[in-house]
Amino acid sequence: ISVLVLNGPNLNMLGKREPGVYGARTLAEIEVETRAFAEGIGIAIDFRQTNHEGVLVDWIHEALGRFQGIAINPGAYTHTSVALQDALRAVGLPTVEVHLSNVFAREAFRHHSYVSPVALGVICGFGPLGYQLALTALKKHLA
Ligand code: DQA
Repeated sequence: ISVLVLNGPNLNMLGKREPGVYGARTLAEIEVETRAFAEGIGIAIDFRQTNHEGVLVDWIHEALGRFQGIAINPGAYTHTSVALQDALRAVGLPTVEVHLSNVFAREAFRHHSYVSPVALGVICGFGPLGYQLALTALKKHLA
């Protein structure tokens, strides 16, 4: 199984960015531990980050035929992007939405997601473990 793991804006700043909210680990460290976990359950991952909405849209399109599922932390685009919802709907790949923080315990503007209606499910509040939970859910879904 091949899964595309996408990360949106500002997630390249993990480690420095609001560590009280997002933890001390860098995205590179999260990638290493997510890949090790994925290999252990028989999933190959391509782990990417961009700050650009259109790049996420392109990557989602390109996933068709190359990956069996998507795990995505869309960052702030979660709360703003109709384009991401449309792209995910267009490709129709099983998608799990991930947030490091518990968005429902935070500001009201983080309580709405444009991605959730096209996701299999949402994992939030468990920090970097969320990526592993998303891969576990995708594996079970694809079995
Ligand atoms: C986030 C939550 C979003 O509200 C925020 O804009 C982020 C990160 C998370 O992982 O908790 O950039 O997606």
